[in-house]
Amino acid sequence: MNLNMNPHIIGQLIGGNFKELYVRKKASERAKLGQIVVIDSTGDTVDIVGGNHVRWLCQVIDLGFGSQMSSQSIELISGLELEETSDYELKDAHLRNYTLLTLQNLLTINYDGKVSATKELPLLFSKVRQVKDSDLAFIKKTQNAICLGDVQGHSSIPVYLDSNNMLSHHVLIAGTTGKGKSVLMKNLIWETASQKQGMIVMDPHDEYIGRTSPGLKDHPEGVVYYTAGRVPKGGNTLKINLELLRPSHFEVIELSNAQRQVMYLYHKKFGKKWISELFTNNNIEEKSEFHEMSLAVVRRKLRLLLDITVRNNELECSSVFDSSAGSTTIKDIARHVLEGRVVIIDTSQFSGQEELLIGSMITAEVFGRYKAAKLSGELDSLPVASIVLEEAPRVLGKDVLTEGHNIFSTIAREGRKFRVGLVAITQLPSLIPREILANMNTKIILGIEMSQERNAIIESSSQDLSAYSRTIASLDKGEALISSPFLPFAVPLKIPFFDERVKRLISEDRAGRSKVESIFPELD
Ligand SMILES: Nc1ncnc2c1ncn2[C@@H]1O[C@H](COP(=O)(O)OP(=O)(O)OP(=O)(O)O)[C@@H](O)[C@H]1O
Ligand SMILES: [Mg+2]
Repeated sequence: MNLNMNPHIIGQLIGGNFKELYVRKKASERAKLGQIVVIDSTGDTVDIVGGNHVRWLCQVIDLGFGSQMSSQSIELISGLELEETSDYELKDAHLRNYTLLTLQNLLTINYDGKVSATKELPLLFSKVRQVKDSDLAFIKKTQNAICLGDVQGHSSIPVYLDSNNMLSHHVLIAGTTGKGKSVLMKNLIWETASQKQGMIVMDPHDEYIGRTSPGLKDHPEGVVYYTAGRVPKGGNTLKINLELLRPSHFEVIELSNAQRQVMYLYHKKFGKKWISELFTNNNIEEKSEFHEMSLAVVRRKLRLLLDITVRNNELECSSVFDSSAGSTTIKDIARHVLEGRVVIIDTSQFSGQEELLIGSMITAEVFGRYKAAKLSGELDSLPVASIVLEEAPRVLGKDVLTEGHNIFSTIAREGRKFRVGLVAITQLPSLIPREILANMNTKIILGIEMSQERNAIIESSSQDLSAYSRTIASLDKGEALISSPFLPFAVPLKIPFFDERVKRLISEDRAGRSKVESIFPELD
């Protein structure tokens, strides 16, 4: 067969082994690292049943040069071209020199279209072609599917993941700064809102709602938004009553055991009034059980963290924590999540510690509600709840967890039994312990240059990603590799640019637009 006749043929299988197949690339075709290709068992093979044949789905994992000429001849030709002025013209250059592709087997598509793990090799000299939409028809849209983008290089093949499975089994989003984690998150939050799953997003850059640019405010279903800053119409003021704080919420704050003990003693004695008593009451009976110094340090830390001043033995609060307002905030947020809504909390006004404390309170409430639902047999009727965490090593880091567990690490370990999942975002996955990384079943890997960080992910993935290190290093902005037990292989993903996507959706959907305007009208 004349290869030149078929525009889809990009090369021919010329050797290798089960782990790596070597392919001579056709000179006029392009092939990129990470690209998915197909080897058909047509031609000499007899495996054709009812007009269908077996297809090997493979991925380009390395590129190199191949040549029919000795290295000495190649060097000599280069010398002639560089050192002599005359242009040396090589006869049949495209036949003698070529690009070698190294492929990895992904899976086999059988006669009936069903996929299975690859167990056989295709024939030598089999043609290698570009993937067609129909080859990937097995990536099907399920009822609750979330679409995160298209297969890289194939804008007509969307990648779907079942939202129930994906979100309850935790998601890790890793990538170097500027590679597109936030853009991906905007897409993911949008899709979660569309699927009516519950989600809490702590947003330290206030970038997801889109005050002045396209954002989640434009979602036709609407999202719930809390901020301690200027409240846009339809949004809520974030105020949290001090009485809702429990000593256990401070697991995410650095405190010594002695300091924690003081907090637990005051809480045991005074219940929900413990914080005001801690600041105003010096003479409790249990005083002998702790050191005066510990009480002083706890007071100083809480004063700074909660922005409290004590005047005339009364607490004055000037931040998000309040001694009178905000008594239902945490419960309201949990209710929204249970109703399958996305709640975005603008934490840009807070310190990292304050953000974690608030996140810890909300997460503990949601987790408690889901645990109770499991006990009462109502869990299956609830949407999945996921908690989005930026800079996840702050609460899931190895050093933090040696001090003890917190609500986030508890969810990482056992949340999926209760349909509560984490979406952990980080530039430095290597700081997270391996068992927690391994529990993050779906990994969306954006470009990562540092090999240590790539290795941490590769070693903890559900699919064998050992051949993908180079591919991950070469991912551009908005490109990702997605590895998940809910996908048949690690799929190279092109993530849509959220802003353009939303602008297009708004202009396409007139009905949507009228709803959009009713959410935050003055921001449009
Ligand atoms: N899917 C995409 N398509 C096109 N451009 C993109 C895409 N993702 C990101 N970009 C470009 O890269 C820029 C940085 O993306 P983004 O803010 O999402 O990175 P990040 O990984 O969140 O960075 P940081 O770690 O600093 O938060 C965007 O402003 C946009 O210009
Ligand atoms: Mg970001």
